[in-house]
Amino acid sequence: MRFAPLVHYAELSVAVAFGLALANTDSAGSLVVRNEGQNSLLTCSRSGAQELDNVHWDPVESYSYQNTSSVVPGPWVIDRDIIRMVGKLSIEEKVGQMSQIQVGQVIGCDGKLNESMVEHWINKWKVGSFLETPGNHDGEFSWYSPENFADVTDTVQRIALKTGPKLPIIWGLDSVRGANYVKGGTIFPSGTSTAATFNQQLAYEAGRIAAKDTRAAGVHWSFAPVLDLSVNKLWSRTYENFGEDPYLSSQMSSASVKGFQGDYKHDRSRVAACLKHFIGYGYPFDGSDRANRHIATHELLEYYVPPFQAAIDAGSATAMESYGVVNGEAVMLSHYYLTQLLRKQMGFAGLLVTDWAEINSQADIYATARNRTHATQIALQRTSVDMSMVADDESFMQATVDLVKNGAISEARLDESVARILQLKKDLGLFDSPFADKALAETVGSLQDVEAARDTARESITLLKNDKGVLPLSKSDRVLFIGPTLNSTRYMGGGWNVHWTGPSDEEGDAVYQGFGDTVIKGVEQVTGAAPKYMKAVDINGTGFVDIDKVIAAAKDADKIVIGLGENSYAENSGNIDGLLLPQKQLDLVSILASKAKKPIAVVLIEGRPRRLGNVPKLADAILDAYLPGAYGGLPIAEILYGKVNPSGRLPITYPATEAQASSTIWQSSYVDYRPQWPFGFGLGYSKLKYSNVTLSSNTLKMGSPITAKLTVTNHGPYPQKEPVQLYTHQHYRVGYAPDLYRLRAFEKVDLGVGESKTISLKLSAEELAFWDRNLRKRVEPAPVTVAINPFTQMDIHAVVELEADPEYVLDEADY
Ligand code: BGC
Repeated sequence: MRFAPLVHYAELSVAVAFGLALANTDSAGSLVVRNEGQNSLLTCSRSGAQELDNVHWDPVESYSYQNTSSVVPGPWVIDRDIIRMVGKLSIEEKVGQMSQIQVGQVIGCDGKLNESMVEHWINKWKVGSFLETPGNHDGEFSWYSPENFADVTDTVQRIALKTGPKLPIIWGLDSVRGANYVKGGTIFPSGTSTAATFNQQLAYEAGRIAAKDTRAAGVHWSFAPVLDLSVNKLWSRTYENFGEDPYLSSQMSSASVKGFQGDYKHDRSRVAACLKHFIGYGYPFDGSDRANRHIATHELLEYYVPPFQAAIDAGSATAMESYGVVNGEAVMLSHYYLTQLLRKQMGFAGLLVTDWAEINSQADIYATARNRTHATQIALQRTSVDMSMVADDESFMQATVDLVKNGAISEARLDESVARILQLKKDLGLFDSPFADKALAETVGSLQDVEAARDTARESITLLKNDKGVLPLSKSDRVLFIGPTLNSTRYMGGGWNVHWTGPSDEEGDAVYQGFGDTVIKGVEQVTGAAPKYMKAVDINGTGFVDIDKVIAAAKDADKIVIGLGENSYAENSGNIDGLLLPQKQLDLVSILASKAKKPIAVVLIEGRPRRLGNVPKLADAILDAYLPGAYGGLPIAEILYGKVNPSGRLPITYPATEAQASSTIWQSSYVDYRPQWPFGFGLGYSKLKYSNVTLSSNTLKMGSPITAKLTVTNHGPYPQKEPVQLYTHQHYRVGYAPDLYRLRAFEKVDLGVGESKTISLKLSAEELAFWDRNLRKRVEPAPVTVAINPFTQMDIHAVVELEADPEYVLDEADY
């Protein structure tokens, strides 16, 4: 475990408090149950053997739905009937509403839902919320179909409606990339891929489809979107987020929230979204998950807050605080982060839930409270947290009831939170229709949804190198396909896919039961013939497989496609000590380059930008597919063979060295930025040309946005989608080093061969405002370069004079 400083805590208790399985980096491959049974009242130890869920259905090919991409739900108000309802509840019932228990607590020794345990939690502790899939906890099935999942949620709901306060429960689930925990729920590419598309509509669709498939399982709340900036690329959660850039991430955030929620107060195919994790999670100082972060508050406001603000502005009904410590202060206990900033400054009025066991962890892990009761007290006193993801014991309930009874916490404090919780239940329709809508199940896995997932993959895959026209491949090429990631669905899915850390080795690809495909299957579909495939190397890079035969086959081929990448992981199990891909994977490329001497195309399937050693030199072509999801196989094949022209762009800086692990496009401009590939970079098969950018004015004043106009032409030979990206770089900023580049606008255009399009992108002076150390917004009156796709080497830019209203200009008094 990485939490060694607390030597006086037994490893077990640390793991328990963190909600972690004890296994760590070497856990990949076996089913990693989350905190299984550590505090369970059931004394049995479950076997770990789960069955495949054999429910089959023929999803409809297509269905109609309400496009709500422009709908923002009305303001968050608490209705009178909800206030009356709160007034009728006892202290214990109020505390129960504020408590969320993980489903592993109600799975019996036989792997099935244990109704006595459900009654225990609801009767004794009045619990009002559950979370997670039984499939992460040795439930009966490894991947629950909508029908079997709904059986679990509906049973719990039935018990809740006849027990205690008879209030419906709300169920939360990490449907972060489609309903990844619902069998057949269309698994989308990861957040990084979504961002790489530079196409907000795809983020909207991913949210909408995830919501529908989640709701089909009787689940009402998705813990998504994930909005942390992926700054330290060592971080195991890099792939969950929309990249490193505040603007790109904000655009995706807004679209995603609208997709999840739509008109959720009326539309029962939608769920509540949850902006997470608030805040600053993406810059762990040493790259390990949950390590503390050092981010000056004005920088937090400048870079990390915008995606969350965008989610709030899009009406996100809920939020989740972030694990751990920012600038030495525990987020969970911070009045500043969770009340002042989130509620008052940013205007979040919805339900705030803790991350897993975070209140207890204050005492158990971070040493930021005397004991669990003390942690509960200060969390409730200082912050506006509404619900505790407890998730495994009665400590929060017992402590809170005691604290109210002895007067340390007022009952009014509970009322405030319970009102928000019950309002959300009402808005989601749980008082009128608490059970799963079985009719939704027939749309789960429909071709229409699968195509939406594939489109996201198609538009995200990023061509980083293509020398000598190695790609696209021709059907007449004799191609040898090599590498473990090319013949696997599960590695394309990564973590948060079927299970928390992805499918186990024992399950392999069988668990998907056809809901997905591999690259090799995709190639077969594109070319009409099964390609020659060899594994060649183990995914963990521990050894070669039949290397002599691989070399012989490579000599005999016209071209070689090598799949490199990562095994699946989530959170702590993905901690690494360095960015380099496993050495044997890299050696494979060197061996084939020197011995076979054939053109090599490398396909990366990885959750974070791993360093590639000599591969960028040795390979003739490189495609980054990120984690394209269970349906990523066909899109990769289509791009390899030129059926689809790559149009993804890097949403993160791709480091060349370990020292660049936290390099970003927005770092101070005087620091060397020479990564392997820069943010926003990506190639296509066609030849594009931009014509000069013209600005509607040479001065940019506050309150008067300007327009940048430019023309982009496709000189062929393929149709090409192109994300036109507008960046700014300020020439100087008195006292505050300017950013290298900031993305300010983008638009993805579709260009036929020979076609030209003129694009207009807006820029306002307010966007160029920055936060100073005294947490005031400032504008520097100084020239700004407006650059279009600066990393394409086309050098299209113009300069504008930025003017600032006097109250925004820094003066001596500010220093
Ligand atoms: C993660 C959250 C997730 C929660 C519930 C935590 O470990 O940090 O992102 O929503 O578990 O599964």
